[in-house]
Amino acid sequence: MSVTVLGAGTWGTAITILLANKGKDVILWSKLENEIKTLEADRSYIKNLPGAVLPDSVKLTCDYEYACKTSDPELIVFAVASPFVRSTAHLVSPYIREGQRIVNVAKGIEESTLYTLLDILNEEIPQGNNSVLSGPSHAEEVSRLIPTTVVVASHDRATAEFLQDMFMTDTFRVYTSDDVIGVELGGSVKNVIALAAGMSDGLGFGDNTKAALMTRGLAEISRLGLAMGAKLETLCGLSGIGDLFVTCTSHHSRNWKAGNLIGQGMDTESAMKEVNQVVEGVHCAKAALKLAKKYNIEMPIVEQVNKILFEGKSAREAVSELLLRERRAEHGSMDW
Ligand SMILES: NC(=O)c1ccc[n+]([C@@H]2O[C@H](COP(=O)([O-])OP(=O)(O)OC[C@H]3O[C@@H](n4cnc5c(N)ncnc54)[C@H](O)[C@@H]3O)[C@@H](O)[C@H]2O)c1
Repeated sequence: MSVTVLGAGTWGTAITILLANKGKDVILWSKLENEIKTLEADRSYIKNLPGAVLPDSVKLTCDYEYACKTSDPELIVFAVASPFVRSTAHLVSPYIREGQRIVNVAKGIEESTLYTLLDILNEEIPQGNNSVLSGPSHAEEVSRLIPTTVVVASHDRATAEFLQDMFMTDTFRVYTSDDVIGVELGGSVKNVIALAAGMSDGLGFGDNTKAALMTRGLAEISRLGLAMGAKLETLCGLSGIGDLFVTCTSHHSRNWKAGNLIGQGMDTESAMKEVNQVVEGVHCAKAALKLAKKYNIEMPIVEQVNKILFEGKSAREAVSELLLRERRAEHGSMDW
């Protein structure tokens, strides 16, 4: 049986290569014809995955009926960028059979509904058996066989273990989890903190500042996650702290890059154009702030990032406002 990957961007292509090299028959679909034509011509993704070759066995298509129904895939991987998950799910849903295993590998929260991407899949494809894969996994490194670890989360153990078997290789280690909301939240909200880390670097601040943003950022993600039913171990695991570390410190990270440009004085629109890929932290920032309000959680970094992105506040002013907030204890469990 084959596997279908929806979304022939950087991550979709890297996952396709990983699965094809494991001997799977992979069908790689994109809504964007030019994406498929370029891959057909080059058999590689020269721009974002230099040196990685698409195995000959990979079939490329823009035909979603073939990709999701006719080929009868044992798994469908959702790898489109988060703003397109709903429209893509809506488009393919009529072609998806009852119980079809689907794994989402994109990261984000829908601002208008505050749904996670799995909430969206569950709404648009209720007949699917929908799961999530997340963790510190830059496509550029995965495609170069650099050792990487991720986590798959599902409400049922058999599916989590099926996904673990499907993706695991000697350089790509997969852990299982039952904490779907924890895995989804960590992967999404860390992008907002990565924007802040990039801004800090762009302003010329140092490692102390970035460590502070990452640590206090994790505290914000954890407060929100716990309020939404996530487990603390998950938020401190690969899809939480692991992904937060990699996104805040790696120059592969488009959220860090966009933040860095904004820190240097560029406006949000121009920074997004310059990065030239979907900067998901910008999409997630408003959603995270709305969630904070909904659950009555303090998220001061997320709040300041929103002000910088959407209200024209200067990044320098935002950092000093964070430092000068009302003084407090580091956490709520002091013994005195
Ligand atoms: N790149 C990575 O290293 C990496 C790693 C882990 C997770 N992810 C996540 O995977 C997702 C995709 O990231 P990426 O790096 O491949 O992004 P990308 O910008 O390289 O690709 C974007 C994808 O969205 C699709 N797309 C664009 N417009 C569309 C439309 N109108 N309708 C349907 N699909 C459309 C494209 O086909 C493409 O597959 C993101 O949520 C990202 O956070 C990326």
